[in-house]
Amino acid sequence: MSNDLKPPTSRAQFATKIGAIATTVGSAVGLGNIWRFPYEAGAHGGGAFMLCYLFFIFSIGIPVICAEFILGRGTRSNIFGAYRKLSPNGKWYLAGYIGIVASIMILSFYSVVAGWTVEYFVQSAIGALDLPSQQHYHTHFDEFSTGNWRPMIWTLIFLAMNFVILMRGVTKGIEKASNVLMPMLFILLLIFCINSLTLDKASEGVYFLLHPDFSKIDSTVLLGALGQAFFSLSLGLGCMMTYASYFNDKTRLGRSATMTAILDTIVAVLSGIIIFPAVFTFGVSPTAGPTLVFEVLPSIFHKLPGGVIWSTLFFLLLFMASLSSTISMSEISIAFFTEEKKMSRRKATILNTVIAMVLGSLCALSFGCLGDFKIFGMTFFSLFDYVSSNILLPTGGLIVSIFAGWVIDKKLLRDQMTNNGSFRFKALWLITFCLRYVAPTGITLVFLDSIGLI
Ligand code: PFF
Repeated sequence: MSNDLKPPTSRAQFATKIGAIATTVGSAVGLGNIWRFPYEAGAHGGGAFMLCYLFFIFSIGIPVICAEFILGRGTRSNIFGAYRKLSPNGKWYLAGYIGIVASIMILSFYSVVAGWTVEYFVQSAIGALDLPSQQHYHTHFDEFSTGNWRPMIWTLIFLAMNFVILMRGVTKGIEKASNVLMPMLFILLLIFCINSLTLDKASEGVYFLLHPDFSKIDSTVLLGALGQAFFSLSLGLGCMMTYASYFNDKTRLGRSATMTAILDTIVAVLSGIIIFPAVFTFGVSPTAGPTLVFEVLPSIFHKLPGGVIWSTLFFLLLFMASLSSTISMSEISIAFFTEEKKMSRRKATILNTVIAMVLGSLCALSFGCLGDFKIFGMTFFSLFDYVSSNILLPTGGLIVSIFAGWVIDKKLLRDQMTNNGSFRFKALWLITFCLRYVAPTGITLVFLDSIGLI
């Protein structure tokens, strides 16, 4: 490592190795797995989407996480600083702007859905989610989400909570909470999964999710699956890069990347197995969109003995999982404002929160009074979701893979993946190959396909 790549000693680091993994998993696992994955899979034909998604996670996702880890820990910098340190005269650092814009867009619409989870947590706790039929659950959610004030206020409250945690710094709150909550969420999902498999039309649901109908694979499915892979792994916007800049020297990057991807994928598949049997059993359309999970889950809980307790606990954990994700996406712009623009952490955090509150309100109102306000045929909410996940994140991923594969010194890549030669990392050639060829070609082809050029 050359001198200017040495870490500034004052920079915070994760206290433990497990903490580093739990925190990256905490960033990756969130609404993306439990809310977004099922509705994207449902809208894009189930098994066909799932197959493309898995393919992208392993062929592009894992190598790109490694690339972000290498740049992050190798430079101990935020996304701008990382590119600038490694290519002082190049324009690569401009990719940082993609990261900032994407992180703020995601934070805005994500907080709306996180707000829904808080509302549903409260409703479960007071027993208001105990309704007689699926139709009631549909109407219930519809009335709430189109009601303007409540969704907006929950969005703002959620962002305020996110603010408070961010003000406490990097290691303390996040690391401790992730260590406990992620395993709990996992166990709960397993229990729900077993329960869903006993539902009347469980086999239809599982068939829908796991049986790929190749004729359904088209450009929308491919782009949707690529975007979902990036979104779910928190990739392409410098989030994993920023977190890796807090890793200590002993963290094994290849192992952490693979574990993060595998755990994240397991959670997504589990939530698919929870949702689709219920979708078919309760007669909901799998293509219902962003509201799907909130309409279906309460029906599942309703059927369980002690349903109120399960559902309260679930929405609480989902809320916490969202929080660990929003914290990580906020760190991207906060690190930028503090390290590049020399703002105090407090000012940077306030700025991040205020922007997200304004944009988040617009997203919350997209289901109510701003529902008819459309840009390119999409509401604020869907536009932010679509542009960030399907365009900005894969573009950021394209840049980071080319940069790590072709531009940086091979030695940095090797040193980071082997912790300066302290162990052998057999898959180094595979990661390098994917970063050089598979990821750039794959992402470019999906883009060209989706704009109709191939
Ligand atoms: N990966 C998170 C999820 O699946 O919920 C969402 C996310 C977190 C996206 C952090 C981007 C990010 F920087």
